[in-house]
Amino acid sequence: MALLDVRDLRTEFRAARGSVTAVDGVSFSVDAGEMVALVGESGCGKSATAQSIMGLVVPPAGRVTGGQVLFQGQDLLTMKPRELRAVRGKGIAMIFQDPMTSLNPVLTIGKQLTESLRLHLGLGNRAARARAVELLETVRIPAPETRLGSYPHQFSGGMRQRVMIAMALSCEPRLILADEITTALDVTIQAQILELLRDLAGETGTAVLFITHDLGVVAGMAERVNVMYAGQIVERADTVDLFHRPQMPYTWGLLGSVPRLDQARGGRLRPIAGQPPELSDMPPGCRFSPRCVHAQDVCRRSPPTLTPVRGADDDPSRLTRCWGMQAVPEGGWLSLDDRYADQPTEEK
Ligand SMILES: Nc1ncnc2c1ncn2[C@@H]1O[C@H](COP(=O)(O)OP(=O)(O)OP(=O)(O)O)[C@@H](O)[C@H]1O
Ligand SMILES: [Mg+2]
Repeated sequence: MALLDVRDLRTEFRAARGSVTAVDGVSFSVDAGEMVALVGESGCGKSATAQSIMGLVVPPAGRVTGGQVLFQGQDLLTMKPRELRAVRGKGIAMIFQDPMTSLNPVLTIGKQLTESLRLHLGLGNRAARARAVELLETVRIPAPETRLGSYPHQFSGGMRQRVMIAMALSCEPRLILADEITTALDVTIQAQILELLRDLAGETGTAVLFITHDLGVVAGMAERVNVMYAGQIVERADTVDLFHRPQMPYTWGLLGSVPRLDQARGGRLRPIAGQPPELSDMPPGCRFSPRCVHAQDVCRRSPPTLTPVRGADDDPSRLTRCWGMQAVPEGGWLSLDDRYADQPTEEK
């Protein structure tokens, strides 16, 4: 049984006119101790997915309208608030992009850490303080005893994110949801924080759902990747396989915008041309088709489903949502073979 099994999740938000579906039938799983990535451009619904899992999407702003979020076999979506609180502390912890919004600015780091330890693990004052020092040491914050007395604003951005990792680990969760945790940091600090999270998760056997818009940072982190576009998963693969043979042209596009060591310096990165569709105005066919240089009639007409990749029968979890890799409704296949010769994101 998977640790986390998200099935056909649907989340809607209230919009100016009616509502928009930000998460549209998303399914994926995370096994115990595994690190899984959720990748996609800004606005594709990554945070909405994470927030739905954590029970943080609440009316009137939004609502989870369908699906299941099975955590250790139990559906979080149908749990009573009290049960859910227990899971949130001990079972699943979340780290956000901006620690300033999740840390309380008027309480010292020590107070926030010990509070959480007392609440979730039932530790006494002294034990909680000792554990807090230990945790700050674990995330490599120098002089932890002294630092317990500091306020969030007295830490640098990278240090604050370390504190957040310490907080997340404090309750010994089975799963950490890490949502763009290094986006606001510079590259060197980013690498250090990611390494830290990976090492600590590895040591403690904690599973991580790693959310990012940057496919470049996925390679060293996750074992499996889910690529998201416009509220849906459009490709799923082992990380190595995704980099070796991306199937969906959107994924090729994401890869094209990642710097590579094996290409000549001065080579240009190619951002994907165009914008994702408005949630309130989805194209009738493939949601990526308006930006896809390989789109054919069928792509613009009917929406492809997420299906096993042709030729990857050995790996049934290898999926793509692309007509180019599926039998088209008229019968027969669209050939993608010639596409590999192309530059995926090159403008025609
Ligand atoms: N509280 C809300 N009310 C209305 N719409 C929302 C709300 N939260 C998210 N949305 C919409 O849902 C869509 C998905 O947003 P989400 O924050 O999940 O994107 P994301 O993939 O996390 O992007 P980013 O990389 O910028 O963090 C967006 O179109 C966004 O405008
Ligand atoms: Mg987000």
